[in-house]
Amino acid sequence: MPVLFDVRSALTNYSVATERNALALNAERMREGVVIADVHFTGQLQANGVSAIALEANEAAKSLDALGSIIVRMREAGATRGTHIWAIGGGAIQDVAAFVASIYMRGIAWTYLPTTLLGMVDSCIGGKSSINVGSYKNIVGTFHTPSRVLIDPTLTESLSPQQRVAGLAEAAKICYCRGAAVFEEYLSLAPRAMATPDQLEPIIGLSLRAKQWFIEIDEFDRAERLLLNLGHTFGHALEGASGYRLSHGIAVSVGVLCALALSETLLGGKPAGAAPLLERHMRNLLDGLPDLPAILRDIEAPTVLAHLKADKKHEANQYRFVLFDGSGAVHLSRLPKSTESDAAIAFAFHTTRESLS
Ligand SMILES: NC(=O)c1ccc[n+]([C@@H]2O[C@H](COP(=O)([O-])OP(=O)(O)OC[C@H]3O[C@@H](n4cnc5c(N)ncnc54)[C@H](O)[C@@H]3O)[C@@H](O)[C@H]2O)c1
Ligand SMILES: [Zn+2]
Repeated sequence: MPVLFDVRSALTNYSVATERNALALNAERMREGVVIADVHFTGQLQANGVSAIALEANEAAKSLDALGSIIVRMREAGATRGTHIWAIGGGAIQDVAAFVASIYMRGIAWTYLPTTLLGMVDSCIGGKSSINVGSYKNIVGTFHTPSRVLIDPTLTESLSPQQRVAGLAEAAKICYCRGAAVFEEYLSLAPRAMATPDQLEPIIGLSLRAKQWFIEIDEFDRAERLLLNLGHTFGHALEGASGYRLSHGIAVSVGVLCALALSETLLGGKPAGAAPLLERHMRNLLDGLPDLPAILRDIEAPTVLAHLKADKKHEANQYRFVLFDGSGAVHLSRLPKSTESDAAIAFAFHTTRESLS
């Protein structure tokens, strides 16, 4: 099993490895622990003699209301303080498993097998869990690093084009934030939705190493790691404004284009450097999604603005965005909460929507 690297963490260090056929190869160890899995994989797990707490991977599953019954099922499955949790699924399952592992009997160990490309290139490292409460998405959460992350790139074969684009958009964003050289290396790997597991594996490795730099230098989101929120202020607002018809990764991709448009307005010209390459790549990825224009046409700028204002990351009198400077570098930027700022934000969304529909 090739170990890609170890992540140094103030909580527990952990290894990230790739392993093909990981579900079958780890079945015996899974049987000794408790498995929390996306319902999509329960048949495959059962075929290997593994029973799991099966969850639909959706926003309702990662709500505070749903957690009580999962914890009861863990107890009924015999989980004690020494039990190892295996989490198998995308970001939604990861959020649930990491959160319950962090609070069950005051915290137990877990291993994560990401099954979406987004999980593989991004969310599997960093140790964050985020849970929805009422209509507030990701409003509570914990930091609880896994003991191990196991990545099986062959699991991407069954992903839809939307899910592949969502993962690549996050990988592109991470590599761009790490610097122009890493982003150019990412582009040289010819990232595209229909890439095979062999083609995706080096993209996954590059993206995770780029993210590793951010989480090791700033594990708890105080400075550098905040840059990885590029595209996320608009992205979260777009997810909400679309009634979650836009998935997280797709909304982030559109959000990066909105951040470019807002930067252009504030700078009085387009960001240079590698920013035009990022824009072209995001547009190429989104071009392959036939449903996107119709979803975007149903979203109105005032709705986006209302969702954006409710984002927990803003300060009392200032909006917080990650924006581009003239050279294409990204910075955490503050905008006064004013009618001028609101107009610029609405305009950035409007021009982006028009350019994509
Ligand atoms: N904790 C973090 O650091 C973090 C980071 C980013 C996103 N997230 C969260 O992750 C969620 C989005 O996660 P996601 O995009 O990975 O997907 P997901 O977990 O929401 O799953 C999306 C769909 O893909 C299906 N699926 C999963 N793996 C599959 C496979 N191999 N083949 C076919 N179908 C498969 C699922 O059943 C589901 O229908 C959001 O809730 C987001 O907030 C968390
Ligand atoms: Zn994200």
